Amino acid sequence: MWGICSRTVAGMVKPCRLMRPRHLVKPVSATRVAGRYLSHQKGLPGLPVPPLQQTCERYITALEPIVEAEELQRTRRLLEDFQKAGGLGEKLQRGLERRAGRAENWLSDWWVQVAYLDYRLPVVVHSSPGLVLPRMSFSDKRGQIRFAAKLIAGVLDFKTMIDNEALPVEYLGGKPLCMNQYYEVLSSCRIPGLKRDSVVNHAKSSRPPKHITVVHNHQFFVLDVYNDDGSPLTADQLSVQLEKICSASSGTSSEPVGILTTQHRDTWGKAYAGLVKDKTNRESVSAIQRSIFTLCLDGATPPVSDDSYRSCAAVQMLHGGGSRWNSGNRWFDKTLQFIIGEDGTCGANYEHAPAEGPPIVALIDHVVEFTRKLELGQPPTGSLPTPRKLHFNITADIKKDIEEAKNSMNTLADDLDMRVIVFGHFGKNVPKAHKMSPDAFIQVALQLAYYRTYQRCCATYESASLRMFRLGRTDTIRSASSASASFVRAFDDSSKQNTEKVDLMDKAVKAHRAYTNMAISGQAIDRHLLGLKMQAMEEKLSVPDLFKDAAYAKALHYKLSTSQVPSKTDCVMCFGPVVPNGYGVCYNPMEDHINFAVSAFNTCKETNAAHMAEAVEKALLDIRTLLEQTPRAKL
Ligand code: COA
Repeated sequence: MWGICSRTVAGMVKPCRLMRPRHLVKPVSATRVAGRYLSHQKGLPGLPVPPLQQTCERYITALEPIVEAEELQRTRRLLEDFQKAGGLGEKLQRGLERRAGRAENWLSDWWVQVAYLDYRLPVVVHSSPGLVLPRMSFSDKRGQIRFAAKLIAGVLDFKTMIDNEALPVEYLGGKPLCMNQYYEVLSSCRIPGLKRDSVVNHAKSSRPPKHITVVHNHQFFVLDVYNDDGSPLTADQLSVQLEKICSASSGTSSEPVGILTTQHRDTWGKAYAGLVKDKTNRESVSAIQRSIFTLCLDGATPPVSDDSYRSCAAVQMLHGGGSRWNSGNRWFDKTLQFIIGEDGTCGANYEHAPAEGPPIVALIDHVVEFTRKLELGQPPTGSLPTPRKLHFNITADIKKDIEEAKNSMNTLADDLDMRVIVFGHFGKNVPKAHKMSPDAFIQVALQLAYYRTYQRCCATYESASLRMFRLGRTDTIRSASSASASFVRAFDDSSKQNTEKVDLMDKAVKAHRAYTNMAISGQAIDRHLLGLKMQAMEEKLSVPDLFKDAAYAKALHYKLSTSQVPSKTDCVMCFGPVVPNGYGVCYNPMEDHINFAVSAFNTCKETNAAHMAEAVEKALLDIRTLLEQTPRAKL
């Protein structure tokens, strides 16, 4: 994910775009082709272990723009020692290579453990992204229910593709991608532990679940979404079932048990052990965990102006607005939660351990297109069993846990500073016209925005997909490079000529694209360094000094944690900063505009999401002006 590892621990020339098959919505293959998924997976290469010397050299290069000269010198010395013939580096490298020879992917289990399951801050804001969809056209309960019914039908339609192993394979730079994450997002859930969490995936059980959970007015219901003959319920049937749920839960109040999932993981782990001691509670929790996904039918949200609508919707998707609003109307451990408000606010929240944003967005793109095409008909004939309410026995201890969770959640909600903007002046079209990678263009603009605000560069994280490899997740693109630093320092320097600035911009963009290519082909530095550190721990060796170095801590303190999550739908993902004094920046570059979600923490006096969003807009515009006004040498 976006720099989460900070809490723990050039190759191809052609630009490599993640390609989704154009027509994802139809047709859904009606026939199951057993084994298709596995044979595709078997054909994928394993994640390579980069050469040790290459990583050490690239690490020093990556530190140059973000650490002081003396720190760099010290790290150079540590690296020399680490790499010396017969030394610790070589030993760990050999261990990693042996692991790569044995495992399907030498990194992925470690990564999920270190980046997610061992991570103890609340998943809310700190780990689980939200996704904001365009505001839907309904504004009442009936509209909410009808849209929700279509959405469920759309997810089930996508699930048919997963179940039939009929998902079209995606490509990056002409190479097929690992499709495993699609098989991890439905019917799965995170389970809190006392020191470490786990994830269960019921899709793989002998009796895969046939129900979803619906939460309305803080009350959970089991909704069976398949008929006895195995066919999915129609949207009309689903609509009737959702009406029953809403009427059964409307007038009654209930303890918001779901808010427990917003807690610090150790606290929730302890409360969870107490909660599931009771048989009724255990069964209710198990029904949520086993369900295909959770649908949150939200109550009211704070009134907002049109200008701040998107930012407020992002807050609803990220944390629900606090205990007064919808934070208790969630089960944040659930891998996939769709969220639908009465006022047309719509989106999702997902628990990050099983997957990255792109598969989630592909699913959502499919669902949105599906809901657009589907018309609801007449109420169905014949009645279906009433959805089952999940009961909880609330003891005094559980009540206390709920109250504590409310307080912590409200503090976190107050702390999150979120600004969503639509940059409407241009999208991918302008960088493309200048023969530049749009992603690199945006990243360089982010560097400029940060530099202008703080007069320095900072360690910057951008997620790069490792899905070219079997079970691949992500590596880090370090967007702050020496080339980007030269550009941002020169940009507002009146002693520099525009031609020189354009040349520096060109170099910065090319450096970024080269880093991207290096990362997606498994040759970046961050996961390799993490692997070496993990190998030392695995072999019970002392952790090399390299990882205790101040420069290493600086390199992992991502004040800019960024991610591109593109989609067909005009939506944007959002997430919190990964350090107390940093920003989380997620963006969706469309052809003629770019959606940005910028977050920060209010408790940090140095940061301000709205100011950073403005600085990004200005940087993008100023770079375009520079490029338009300056003749460039032929590329
Ligand atoms: N001239 C003209 N066009 C160019 C160009 C150039 N020099 N370089 C790139 N382009 C085009 C591409 O062909 C592509 O065209 P399309 O819009 O028609 O498809 C488009 O510009 C986008 O390319 P680019 O901006 O370079 O980015 P990308 O699509 O290759 O994405 C990453 C880069 C890093 C985002 C991607 O490799 C990746 O890893 N994505 C996954 C990230 C992830 O997992 N995020 C979620 C974390 S939870």
